[in-house]
Amino acid sequence: MERIYLDHAATSPMHPRVIEKMVKVMNETFGNPSSIHSFGREARHYLDEARATLAASIGARENEIIVTSGGTEADNMALFGIAESYKQNGKHIITTQIEHHAVLHTCQQLEKNGYEVTYLPVDETGRISLAELTASLRDDTILVSIMYGNNEVGTIQPMKEIGQILLNHQAKFHTDAVQAYGIEKIDVNESHIDALSVSAHKINGPKGIGFLYLRSDVIIAPRSFGGEQERKRRAGTENVASIAAFQEAVEIAVADRDIKREKFKGFKRLLIKKLQEARVEFALNGSLEHSLPHVLNLSFPGTNVEAMLVNLDLTGIAVSSGSACTAGSIEPSHVLVAMHGKESERLVNSIRFSFGFTTTEEEIFKAADAITSVVARLRNTI
Ligand SMILES: Cc1ncc(COP(=O)(O)O)c(C=O)c1O
Repeated sequence: MERIYLDHAATSPMHPRVIEKMVKVMNETFGNPSSIHSFGREARHYLDEARATLAASIGARENEIIVTSGGTEADNMALFGIAESYKQNGKHIITTQIEHHAVLHTCQQLEKNGYEVTYLPVDETGRISLAELTASLRDDTILVSIMYGNNEVGTIQPMKEIGQILLNHQAKFHTDAVQAYGIEKIDVNESHIDALSVSAHKINGPKGIGFLYLRSDVIIAPRSFGGEQERKRRAGTENVASIAAFQEAVEIAVADRDIKREKFKGFKRLLIKKLQEARVEFALNGSLEHSLPHVLNLSFPGTNVEAMLVNLDLTGIAVSSGSACTAGSIEPSHVLVAMHGKESERLVNSIRFSFGFTTTEEEIFKAADAITSVVARLRNTI
């Protein structure tokens, strides 16, 4: 059976050039980047080159990049680190109700540690209100963490405007850009971002590697202690092969960005058109205007998400509900709750489609046909 992978927001396949680079480094360069001899220097060279590429990709400087084990660690490092370092200025934090759990659960832990967290609501399209953000800011607010683009519905927040609001406030501005990085053009200076989280496996890089951008004047308390790696902010011998592969993934993402954006927007339009033509009843979760090009979340009234996912999987189509799947059952999405309320039928019938470099137009046609027949079948049985 031909399988079609439309779950690139969950994770993406490594690009062949990324694999090639990783294998090359694993084969040829095993030195410890902290060693003074030539083996160490060869490894260090890969790290230095990668750091320059990662920094340039967001308009940052090399000393502002802390390599991490991925998006989760970058989010934890930013939130715990900033909260601890600036607690003498206050203990109030602002975030949103639709963050990834890497931010939400960290905020909940910070609440247990004596911080106060405001969780901003969002409108039906998943956007925060700038007026509400302004009203929530207090003299003791030390951190505002608002995600760049949402992983479940794709909604993009008004980054520049948020940066502008925070410009004359003491609060540091962190954004989880794990889903936006590589597809949106990000400039940390334009949006006055102080900290930004990225993960490699969402952009065809290896799993278990990412980075935190931290503006040079922002201090974070380290959470791991040991060697002097990452300017004493993250001790431990660097994952050289993954970092070199990550660099390759970033170079490809930057070079292909504009083409991919247009291609993925076209896939969205095509899928929607095909479903409309087949008279499938559905509603869009999120917005087509302020949206990540690779994420499309649709609600299919009269169906059930678990049955949809299983039935689509049986036809070879891998999609997701976008929200956490625990022990085989799907938890109602906190993102859809924030957008549509606890009682909304959308909580039980929404599917996320996400595209990547392997996705083709033909796959979208096939997916549209499969969705049409699965929805028809489920509506007759549920
Ligand atoms: C928005 C967002 N933040 C953070 C993460 C976590 O990243 P990682 O899997 O690299 O830990 C993800 C991954 O699902 C994500 O989509």
